[in-house]
Amino acid sequence: MFRDFPLFPEAASSIAGDVDRLYWFLIAITGSATLLVMILVATFAVKYRRTPQNEVPVHEPENKYLEYAWIIIPFIAFMAIYVWGAAVFFKINRPPDDALDVWVTGKRWMWKFQHVTGQSEINELHVPLGRPIRLTMASEDVIHSFYAPAMRVKKDVLPHRYTTVWFTPTKVGRFHLFCTEYCGTEHSKMIGSVVVLQPAEYQAWLAGGPTSSPVEEGEKLFTTFACNTCHMGEGLQQRGPVLDDLFGKPVRLRNGQTVLADENYLRESILNPQAKIVAGYDPIMPAFLGQVDEQQLIYLLTYIKSLSGEPADAGDGASASGPASGDVVPQTAPTGTQQTPSNAPAGPQAGTASPNQSR
Ligand code: CUA
Repeated sequence: MFRDFPLFPEAASSIAGDVDRLYWFLIAITGSATLLVMILVATFAVKYRRTPQNEVPVHEPENKYLEYAWIIIPFIAFMAIYVWGAAVFFKINRPPDDALDVWVTGKRWMWKFQHVTGQSEINELHVPLGRPIRLTMASEDVIHSFYAPAMRVKKDVLPHRYTTVWFTPTKVGRFHLFCTEYCGTEHSKMIGSVVVLQPAEYQAWLAGGPTSSPVEEGEKLFTTFACNTCHMGEGLQQRGPVLDDLFGKPVRLRNGQTVLADENYLRESILNPQAKIVAGYDPIMPAFLGQVDEQQLIYLLTYIKSLSGEPADAGDGASASGPASGDVVPQTAPTGTQQTPSNAPAGPQAGTASPNQSR
């Protein structure tokens, strides 16, 4: 009912109703408070206007009940807003476990979508009706913001870390998609569509797409960057933590802390491995910041997730065939790591002790 009010964009996701009801509640509370103030201003202006009989206002004794009222009533109203808002907030921020994963990369000035089944698209996001969709988003350059009004989701898309949103489409159709963070000259053109298809149509759409899955691409990169030399070996030669069954689990660090192995943890551990050293291992891994781009990160993370049995979804794909399959040239030398200091744990600054120590 409320959703059809023309003030609001079309409502096409399962949380749209929650968001709209909360919004109406806010409007009702703030609107009635505004109205009350307006009415009192007008009434009092007339009633207590200056007259010859009323030149100086008389002193009004304090009214305890009035004071209680304007403390307690707003308190209840604000607590209601808080509790209700928090409930919707948690709902919006907790994707269901069976959500379909899509990776999103924001870039001046376009949106790139990578489906776990291999399809990728630009400025269009195809999703099936009635299925929770979880977007894991990062930016290649500046801060963008992903906004799909009909889905009632909006979240900043940042460089250097992942943010997520989810929604369950409840209507078939094509819906707007905007960037809502000013990101440069063509910010206003950084727009697109969320296309919601019937599940059968969606399957057909998937079938029309390519080719090798992100899991396979990730597995290839895993060899290219020689990750397998440390993370896959057995026994003595295994110098890095095993990645099987890692995703979603707690990881104990050298400094005694425990962190959750989520997308952001994996991302950081690839780009800047020194940030969090796993207990029992040496900080010997070179940093891949600047060598692995967003797309490659998506492939690598999808692959690592697949090692934990994370479904690559919609059927096939999950070739979680374990350690680097044999047909790739066994690379003992880390060929993909030209610019990085090699595994030799030479202290980074050792060579730079410069002549100007003496003044
Ligand atoms: Cu991207 Cu504005």
